[in-house]
Amino acid sequence: MCGIIGYAGREQAAPILLDGLERMEYRGYDSAGVAVRSETAGLQVKKTKGRLQALADMTHGGADLEGTLGIGHTRWATHGEPNDINAHPHVSENGRIALVHNGIIENYLELKEHLQRQGVTFVSDTDSEVVAQLLEFHYNECGSMLEAVGRCLRRIEGSYAFGIICSDYPNALIAARKDSPLILGYGEHGNFIASDVTAIIKYTRDVAYMDDGEIAVITPESIDVFDDEMSPVEKAHSVVDWDVSAAEKGGYPHFMFKEILEQPEAVRKTISPRIREGRVVLDDLHLTAEEARRFSRIFIIACGSSYHVGMISKYNWERLLRRPVEVCLASEFRYSDPLVDEDTLVIVISQSGETLDTMAAMREAKRRGGRTLAIVNVVGSSIAREADDVLYTWAGPEIAVATTKAYSTQLVLMDLVGLYLADLLGTVAREEYDAILAAAEALPEQMRQVLEHVEKLQYFASRYFNHDSIFFIGRNLDYALGMEGSLKLKEISYIHSEAYASGELKHGTISLIEPGTLVVALGLYTALFDKAMSNVVEVKARGAEVLAVTTESCRERMEKNADSVVAVPDTHPILQPSLGVIPLQLFAYYVALQRGCDIDKPRNLAKSVTVE
Ligand code: M6R
Repeated sequence: MCGIIGYAGREQAAPILLDGLERMEYRGYDSAGVAVRSETAGLQVKKTKGRLQALADMTHGGADLEGTLGIGHTRWATHGEPNDINAHPHVSENGRIALVHNGIIENYLELKEHLQRQGVTFVSDTDSEVVAQLLEFHYNECGSMLEAVGRCLRRIEGSYAFGIICSDYPNALIAARKDSPLILGYGEHGNFIASDVTAIIKYTRDVAYMDDGEIAVITPESIDVFDDEMSPVEKAHSVVDWDVSAAEKGGYPHFMFKEILEQPEAVRKTISPRIREGRVVLDDLHLTAEEARRFSRIFIIACGSSYHVGMISKYNWERLLRRPVEVCLASEFRYSDPLVDEDTLVIVISQSGETLDTMAAMREAKRRGGRTLAIVNVVGSSIAREADDVLYTWAGPEIAVATTKAYSTQLVLMDLVGLYLADLLGTVAREEYDAILAAAEALPEQMRQVLEHVEKLQYFASRYFNHDSIFFIGRNLDYALGMEGSLKLKEISYIHSEAYASGELKHGTISLIEPGTLVVALGLYTALFDKAMSNVVEVKARGAEVLAVTTESCRERMEKNADSVVAVPDTHPILQPSLGVIPLQLFAYYVALQRGCDIDKPRNLAKSVTVE
C-alpha cells in the first residue's frame, strides 16, 4: 500500500526520493509525488497519477528539483479517486507546509468542516489534506512546527505515518507514527524516514523503528525522537541484515520467479538455526511446559496466504498436539466476540507484520488475556513488536505481491513450532519426532529437486492458460494446499478459480464440471491417496481435464487417470505440502506470463494491506 520516504541531508534530495519510491513500487500504488525545499525555489511539489516513471520524466529523474530536504509518497487510493490532485504530498493553503501520509484519518470530515468554517479551502477529496490544513492552522496559532504537529496529533483519530516539511525550516523534516509503520534511517550523508526499509537500504542499514505516539525531528546531522508528551526518547538502533541486492531482481524476469527459486535457501535459513543436536530449539519462545499445558484452546489467525499456512498447520498441529486448533481469518476473528481467555494460545502469522486486520485481531486477543505468538518475516514490524513472543521467518525481503518464499518459510516454521509444543506436552513419540526433524533437514535439497520441474510446469501452463475457470481439489492437507494454489493462480493470472475439499464436490460443485473444465487434483497426502484417485475418476467421468500433483511413490497410479502429472519427492506427510506448493506456484507464474499479466504487481493488490 502507500509508501513514504523522507530525506534530510547534504545530497540533492529528489533523486534519492525517486529511487526510494521505485524500490517501494512493489507495495502497489496508483499515483506518486515528491516535495522538496530549497533556499532559492522554496517548496516545490510534483505529483501525478500513474506510474512513477511519469514523475521521473516530469522532473528529469529529480534533477530539476533543487534542495537537500524532501518527502516522497506512492499512494494507494482510499479517500478520493486516484488522480493528480489526490496524490501526495498535500500542501497547506498558504503553500508553506507539505505532508505525506499513510493510514486513515477517521474524523477527517468533522475536522474538514471545522476548518471550512474558518474559511479554509480544500482542493482534494483526501483525509490527508485535512491534516496539512490543520497543521497550518496550529502553526499560525503557536509559531512552532513541532508544537503544531503535537497539537494536530491530539485532535486526529485514526492511523498515520506522516512525513512533514515546512518552508520555514530549511533543514528539518518531522515524522510521526500511530498504527502505520515508520522507520528512521541514520545515513552517512543524511538521515531518512521510510515506511519500508527497502526504500533506504541502498543508503543505510542503521535503522530504528518508531513506536506509536512518537514524533521525530530529522536533520542532516541528527534524529531526535519525542513521545506523545514531548519528552525525549532514546531509540535503540538495529542493523538490517540483508543488503540492497536481496531486494533487486538480479537478472531474473520477475521478483516472483526469483523468490520461487530462493525457497530452498530461505527454508534452510529458517530451520537450520532452530535444529540443534536432534532437537527443535526456539530461543525466542519463552514458554514453559507448564504454561503450554494450561492452553485449552489454540487459535491461528491470519489473512490470505498466511491464513492458508494456518489451515495446513491446523491439520498438522491437531495431529501432533492432540488439542483442538481453530484457524480464523483475522478480519472475521476481530469482530466475532472470540472465546479467548488466559488459557488460550493465539498464533498470528504475517509476512509483512503490518496487515491491519491481523494486527487488530491480535490486539483483540491480547485484550481478552490470550497469549500471543507471532510468526513474522519483517523484523521490527508492528505485529512483531506487539506480540508476546515473535519467531521470525528468515525469507529475506519479499517483493512480489504474490507470496512464495514467505509462505514456505511460514509453513516450515509452523511445523517446527508444532513439533516443539508437542514435545513440551509429551504428545509426540520419539520416533515420530526424529522422523519429522530428519525430513525437515532434508527439505531444502528436496525443494531444489522440485524446482527442476520448471520446464514441465511451463509446458503445462502453455497448454492450460486459456481456461477461464479452474478448480483445485484435495482432501485434508491437500485441500488446504489447494486453497493456496487457487489463490496464487487467481491473484496473478486473473483466472477464476476455486479450491474444494474433494469430498464436497458431489454436494453441489460437480455441476460446474463440464467437458474440458480444468481440475488441478492434489494427491500428495498419501494416507488418502485412494480417495483422491476416486475423485479424479469422478471428474474425468464428467469430461474434466485433470492436471495432478502427487508424490513420486504415487505417480504411476495417478498417471493411469490424470491427463498430466507432476510428481514431487516423498517426505514426511506433515512436510509434504512444502514440496507440493512449488509446482502450484510455478504453474500460476507461467500461466500469468502466458496471459501477459503484470506478475509482480497484480491489479488492485498491495503487498502490505494496512487498511481494513
Ligand atoms: O503480510 P501478511 O502475511 O499478513 O499478508 C497477508 C495477505 O495479504 C497475503 O498473504 C496475500 O494473500 C498474498 N498476496 C498472497 O500471495
